[in-house]
Amino acid sequence: MSKNIFSRFYCNRVCVVIGGLALILIMILFFDTYFFSSEKIPSLPDDPLYKDPQASVEDRVTDLMSYMTLDEKIGQMALVENKSVVVEDVRKYALGAILSGSGSNPEQNSFEGWRSMVQGFTSSSHESRLGIPILYGVDAIHGHGNVLGATLFPHAIGLGASGNESLVYELAEATGEELISTGVTWSYSPTLDMPEDVRWGRTYESFSDDPVLVGRLGAAYIQGVQVANEHGTSKVLATAKHFLGAGGMQWNTSSNKNFSIDQGATPVDETKLRNTYLLPFKDALDADVHTVMVGLNSWGETKLAAEHYLLTDLLKGELGFEGFVVSDWYGVYEIPGGEYRAAVTAIRAGVDMVMLPFDYKSFIGNVHRAVQQGEIPMERIDDAVRRILRVKFAMGLFDATSTPPLSDEDLFEHKTLARQAVRESLVLLKNSEGLLPLDRSASSTIRVTGSAANNVGIQAGAWTVAWQGVDGNWIPKATTILQGLQEVAGPNVTFEFSEDGTYEEGNPVIDVGIAVVGEKPYAEGWGDNPYPTLSEVDIRAIENLKKVCVRVIVILVTGRPLLISDAIDDWDTVVVTWLPGSEGAGVADVLYGVQPFTGSLPLPWPAHIGQLPVVGGKTKDGTPPLFPRYFGLR
Ligand code: GLC
Repeated sequence: MSKNIFSRFYCNRVCVVIGGLALILIMILFFDTYFFSSEKIPSLPDDPLYKDPQASVEDRVTDLMSYMTLDEKIGQMALVENKSVVVEDVRKYALGAILSGSGSNPEQNSFEGWRSMVQGFTSSSHESRLGIPILYGVDAIHGHGNVLGATLFPHAIGLGASGNESLVYELAEATGEELISTGVTWSYSPTLDMPEDVRWGRTYESFSDDPVLVGRLGAAYIQGVQVANEHGTSKVLATAKHFLGAGGMQWNTSSNKNFSIDQGATPVDETKLRNTYLLPFKDALDADVHTVMVGLNSWGETKLAAEHYLLTDLLKGELGFEGFVVSDWYGVYEIPGGEYRAAVTAIRAGVDMVMLPFDYKSFIGNVHRAVQQGEIPMERIDDAVRRILRVKFAMGLFDATSTPPLSDEDLFEHKTLARQAVRESLVLLKNSEGLLPLDRSASSTIRVTGSAANNVGIQAGAWTVAWQGVDGNWIPKATTILQGLQEVAGPNVTFEFSEDGTYEEGNPVIDVGIAVVGEKPYAEGWGDNPYPTLSEVDIRAIENLKKVCVRVIVILVTGRPLLISDAIDDWDTVVVTWLPGSEGAGVADVLYGVQPFTGSLPLPWPAHIGQLPVVGGKTKDGTPPLFPRYFGLR
């Protein structure tokens, strides 16, 4: 065989061998990636340390993480909306938490129905390989508002008007009791936003625009709702939200085409950030809050969920926050670049748990891929999971036994407390001729009108059974403002109610009329309003009432200061109740002097639209507000 034939012969064989080896290598890589990617599952001893309640939290976290696969770790970073997940997947994917978005209720919407629904998800988590219990979260921003029959406390703006920390602590504790009686272990409250523009549909979710008051009441709420149960472990986890600066969003900057200011942009101003927006979050950290929710707003051009400086350098680094950061609703996927890029950006920025209202499987797949491709460092995943597990162990989630259902006595106690909160939230803005307090000792007739007089849905506001609230009186165990008047005034007083203020011709004109007027319920951006004021229907009702009564008391049931400068001079007495919730009788208690007015405005009451936004108590155009912050007659 000639040399060149020989070399050609061997060259061919060598090429075949190399090609074969390359093919085998590609096949190994392919199979490894797609069929054997599930890493080796660490074996689990019969009695692992992490199940020992005597061991330290950090030791239990470290031990548990040593048994976790990458996918089990990623599962813990997923907070999934309950209508988007089958119960079995909680076990299968080792999901970290489930939420009921507002209105995401069980078929049977009662304390029992909720207890059974939540138990289904919790049991599924206990059946997972490592038995890591889920957190179950709701927005209990004014009590366990989703549940029919729950105590509906005044919304936060009314609590801001009360300024009473111990009251807020007590009602937060009562809220925690109603939550845990249904198995719910996490509430996305308190809100620490400070609204500067009352055109914002979330004004009523805030205590005030004063960072000192917001910090005081927020801390009291966190301590109250997290108060330890009989095992010495936390009942319910609070959430400081929305980090950071949502109250400073500017009108007409919303990233949502349906809204004007909600989900808008907060101008970048580091000094203001540190001297205003950040202060209540520092108080919340001092009050031992373990979760912080990222806002849907932007800091300048950057979505908060993508803000590494604020979430990691500031909150976790400078302030030393050791709990976990949770994103809000669909906020992560509003980061530009598509779902994969958005998830990578948010997790790298410092989001530890991602709220997934719709799809969790692609989230888990994307994050798995990003870790494999080195776009999300394993250290970041481990940090996020360590934070989540630390909170779960620290609040006793692994060790707590189930809490018994709420007793009727407890519920009665909560309603009594809620009625007290209503009394303390009322603010007297005007009282000509000392018309208040009303006299119930002598027989009298009072005419009552207005859309909010006999409507629990309006006085409760949104985040009540349904996200946008309900309209009407079908909420059980609640008292309307009219019913409260009838109850408190007693037999000497006759109330003639006509919602539109019209009465039969020929009826004699009487001394006093009460117009209970206000806003229909709204939540978030759906409440963004370019000119918040009374409806035409309510304005007409007041005018009709003035034709048949000598003196008129106007009761404002509203989630925010309304533009009333043009009308208030025609009203003899004006009281603002904010959104009082289920215990409408608390309003009558103060109108009849059972308890005096003690409330004051938690934020300035603008005189006209040109004064907005009001920043630090100062109106945009420099003119005086109709009423300054902390105004309130006694
Ligand atoms: C909403 C709100 C947030 C709430 C969350 C879960 O979009 O922005 O405050 O906690 O979704 O309901």
